[in-house]
Amino acid sequence: MTRPYYIAGNWKMHKTRAEAAELAVALVDQLKDGKHKYLVAPGFTLLETVAPIVKGTNIRLGAQNCAAEEQGAHTGEVSVLQLKDLGVQTVILGHSERRHIYKEDDALINKKLKLALAHGFEVILCIGELLEEREAGKAEAVCETQTVKGLEGVAVADLGRIVIAYEPVWAIGTGKTATPEDADAIHAFVRGVIAKLYGQAAAEAIIIQYGGSVKPENAAQLMAKENIDGALVGGAALKAGAFVPIAKFG
Ligand code: PGA
Repeated sequence: MTRPYYIAGNWKMHKTRAEAAELAVALVDQLKDGKHKYLVAPGFTLLETVAPIVKGTNIRLGAQNCAAEEQGAHTGEVSVLQLKDLGVQTVILGHSERRHIYKEDDALINKKLKLALAHGFEVILCIGELLEEREAGKAEAVCETQTVKGLEGVAVADLGRIVIAYEPVWAIGTGKTATPEDADAIHAFVRGVIAKLYGQAAAEAIIIQYGGSVKPENAAQLMAKENIDGALVGGAALKAGAFVPIAKFG
């Protein structure tokens, strides 16, 4: 089974509109001959600026979160309807910063995920263990729980619009990357979890990205692993000079 590679840039809470436009223009130009699947996820206030720049190119537009409700009295939240209106195609859910800083639990993430799917979005579901969980030998158990609970109630027919991003929390923004072998082992394990839930064909088709200090220097080694199908990139996604070589690894 050959899965396409999918390289996504998570811009987190960085950039003004002018800076975002500059980066998006550079990426469109430099990735136009890129062979993989690409996405940028700018902050909410930047989406309207970036949308027309990436529209019709090989770069998808992603949001970093969405509300669990469609609309209503939810001060400070952003709805799937508002995201759809801006041309957003993909929503990142369950990022470790959402889980650990903003205390989002699996049930909330699952609710958001089902709402996003119902509105036609692709979802990147982030999973990953904390350092103390890894040291206690619980990395697999944590990833299994986050995968199973995150996907609860999702039909196999919708699995083609789900991407999983394995992001060991201790590797995010720290400069510490999981070794390609360690990352691949978790990816293989998660693929096994998907096989148990949805069968072998679905497990072989699902894209599992790695995230956590992906850089131009380590991208090719990570992507060479059988079960690593792409990357969710944070810090290195903020400059075309770093993101483009990752996106064109190898
Ligand atoms: P990083 O972030 O590449 O800066 O480690 C990855 C992420 O949080 O998605």
